[in-house]
Amino acid sequence: MRTWIRVLRPVHRRSAARKAVDLREAESFIRLYCRENGGSPEARLREVVKEVAVHGTYTHTPEELAFGARVAWRNSNRCIGRLYWRSLRVRDRRRVTTAEGVALECVQHLREATNDGKIRPTITVFAPDLPWRRAPRILNEQLIRYAGHRMDDGTIVGDPRNADLTDVAAKLGWEGRGTRFDVLPLVIHPGRGKPLLCNLPGDAVLEVPIVHPEYEWFAELGLRWHAVPAISDMCLEIGGICYPCAPFNGWYMGTEIGARNFADADRYAMLPEVARRLGLDTSTERTLWRDHALVELNVAVLHSFERAGVTMTDHHTESRRFLKHLEKEERAGRVCPADWSWIVPPLSGAATPVFHRYYDESELSPAYVRHADK
Ligand code: ARG
Repeated sequence: MRTWIRVLRPVHRRSAARKAVDLREAESFIRLYCRENGGSPEARLREVVKEVAVHGTYTHTPEELAFGARVAWRNSNRCIGRLYWRSLRVRDRRRVTTAEGVALECVQHLREATNDGKIRPTITVFAPDLPWRRAPRILNEQLIRYAGHRMDDGTIVGDPRNADLTDVAAKLGWEGRGTRFDVLPLVIHPGRGKPLLCNLPGDAVLEVPIVHPEYEWFAELGLRWHAVPAISDMCLEIGGICYPCAPFNGWYMGTEIGARNFADADRYAMLPEVARRLGLDTSTERTLWRDHALVELNVAVLHSFERAGVTMTDHHTESRRFLKHLEKEERAGRVCPADWSWIVPPLSGAATPVFHRYYDESELSPAYVRHADK
């Protein structure tokens, strides 16, 4: 029952964009900032009130921006990897307001975040929405995504999740090679005017070929995945200000790729083929061929990233780290809100300690949110 209530609750919040800043939100952020970083909020609050009275908005200091971005990560109920929230590298690019500028900085973001495989959690924050100006936005849900090409017979070659974005890119003149792993171009909406297409240069996209430590045939499946998951369609909301273009990345947990991207029936749907190659009996569910194939897929993903020298975590280690983070937060006198249905890994849930408890479900700010009117 709990799960359904959670699923039915809309995930979209109302956009703070292009209205005057809500002073209550600004105030609670400034107080939070001072509580955790020292300093007296009163002087800063007077400045903010004055700025909002004149302009309808205010400007975060670079320190407030960095703190806000990090706390938004700390507040991400769905993220199991929050232990390192303080280490987020914040690239302050608020002066960048054009689609071309956004494209160039996204490429640079990927290079710095990839760091030859030693992935660095990074966010690039572009111009905020202002009462008199809509800021640019990235249409792609992540900076790196594989195309889903629609075939005449209704099947999709590639990642079906990105079929709509692939259609949009094609309409704008993009042509992929037609493989299962064509990296999509960035589609960037400037504040006003036509969207911009930007192909990612090869050196900005590190990919890992998927092999298995024991089964040589695994490489013949032709699977690969990108090293950096960089969410690019969420707004960073800090103290009543909305930064609609603020791509951020951490590193992957193996199950995201092995138990979802490659396994889900509406994604790469690899379980039947992996099971066949393993020689499993797929005539009845009771052989647990799906489960068996899932484990080998996940072994392959973890092994391949390790072999390529690309940072990746596994769900057992990350579950323990998350509970350590939770304890640390409680000791600091804070609640650590979490969404059970997202925190529990999609493989061997009950074999990880995060399964066996409930979490505080409050939604805190600053936050990464998706706006309905994106
Ligand atoms: N689950 C998403 C994917 O498979 C990535 C979400 C963010 N993940 C992360 N480890 N920071 O692409």
